[in-house]
This record gives sequence, C-alpha cells and structure tokens, in this order.
Amino acid sequence: MSADVLIAPSILSADFAKLGEEVRAIDQAGCDWVHVDVMDGHFVPNITIGPGVVAAIRPHTKKPLDVHLMIAPVDPYIEAFAKAGSDIITVHAEAGPHLDRSLQLIRSLGKKAGVSLTPHTHESTIQYVLDRLDLVLVMTVNPGFGGQAFIPAMADKIAAIRQMIGNRPIHLEVDGGVNPAMAAVCARAGADVLVAGNAVFQGGKYAENIKAIRTAAATVAV
Ligand code: DX5
Ligand code: ZN
Repeated sequence: MSADVLIAPSILSADFAKLGEEVRAIDQAGCDWVHVDVMDGHFVPNITIGPGVVAAIRPHTKKPLDVHLMIAPVDPYIEAFAKAGSDIITVHAEAGPHLDRSLQLIRSLGKKAGVSLTPHTHESTIQYVLDRLDLVLVMTVNPGFGGQAFIPAMADKIAAIRQMIGNRPIHLEVDGGVNPAMAAVCARAGADVLVAGNAVFQGGKYAENIKAIRTAAATVAV
C-alpha cells in the first residue's frame, strides 16, 4: 500500500494572491490531488475560502480537488461546493448531528464523500457510516492552521481505521504536520493519501518537496 501513497498539497500554505499560478505549480510538480481547506471562523478559529474560490481555481488543474470543509453547519453549503467543481467533499463528524445525511447529500450530488475526525474523536464514530464513505480524513493537528506539529497519538488511530476499512474502497487520508518523517509514520500505519501544506510549499521547491514526502512514504516496509 505504501508504494501507492497519494500526495495532496494544501493550498492553505500557498500565496493566496496568486492561487491559480500556485495550483498550476503544484500540479506540474507532481501532486496527485489538490487539498482545499475551507474554514468558517466558527467550527475552527480561522477563516479561509468559500465556493467562489474553489470555482476560480477549478480551471487551473485537471487533478481532483479534495475539499475539506471545516465549517458548521455544513449541509447548507455542500451543494455550492459541489457546483464549484469539487471532486471530493469531506465534512467533519463533529460539525453536525446528522453525519449520515450529510454523506448522502454529497453522494447525491455525484461527488465522493469523506468524513474527517478531529484528534479527540474516536474512530468508532464512523462505524455505521462506513458504507457511505469514499474517504476518511484523520486530522493529526487541531484543525484551523497550517504549520502545526503532528500529534503522535494519531498513528494508532490511523492504524485502527485502516483495520475498520478492511477491503472497502475507502481512502485513508492524513492531514496536519505531515513532513517526510511523519509521512513514513503515516504510511506504516496504513494511510494512502497524505496532505501537506508547509512541507510542500516551504522554500518554493515544490517538486523536490513532494518527492521527498513520496519517497519517505514509499520506503516504508509494508
Ligand atoms: C489544518 C488543515 C491542514 C493544514 C495542513 O486545519 O486542514 O490541511 O493546513 O498544513 P500543514 O501540512 O502545514 O500542517
Ligand atoms: Zn485539510
């Protein structure tokens, strides 16, 4: 599994004044998906971008837009993010009382459905929605900001969710504090998609940075 790890740079760490150019740059640098962090200043203590920005970057890449909604309520905005050109829409399990309904809504719009868990949320919360999922996103920092340190206890959670997924065609994505060293930890635990913000955008050498993360994940013995 580790040989197939996908890299999804988070444009939260990009230069917002030239987002189109930044998206083209990570695309050309070899990313697999483009991770878009949507924050509302309510569910998380930061505000970032809305569906208008997703629509604006859509023409700049053919790669999947992996849209991570850190907003509550979330259901009223799912259709707008679908129409904006998202491929994968991920909602937080903690963002509302009716996760099953949110996931059904995403799939009814023809999009892949993901659920994200903040660090304190137990993996059992997704047990009864597994068959509605295309992706599980394990937050390895408290959501809201880039550049935070990976929370070590999350490695066990990644491994537990890998067990829960079994043979289902569900991606297991990790988000927060992923650098080459942590990429190896995540891949070993069973992750197959790695989000990275600072570790991709730092220093401006996007291709080199993506390759370093990919190589670290791939060298892990399965
Ligand atoms: C945090 C976001 C992450 C974050 C990743 O709330 O969901 O995508 O920006 O950034 P790094 O890799 O810098 O932790
Ligand atoms: Zn994210």
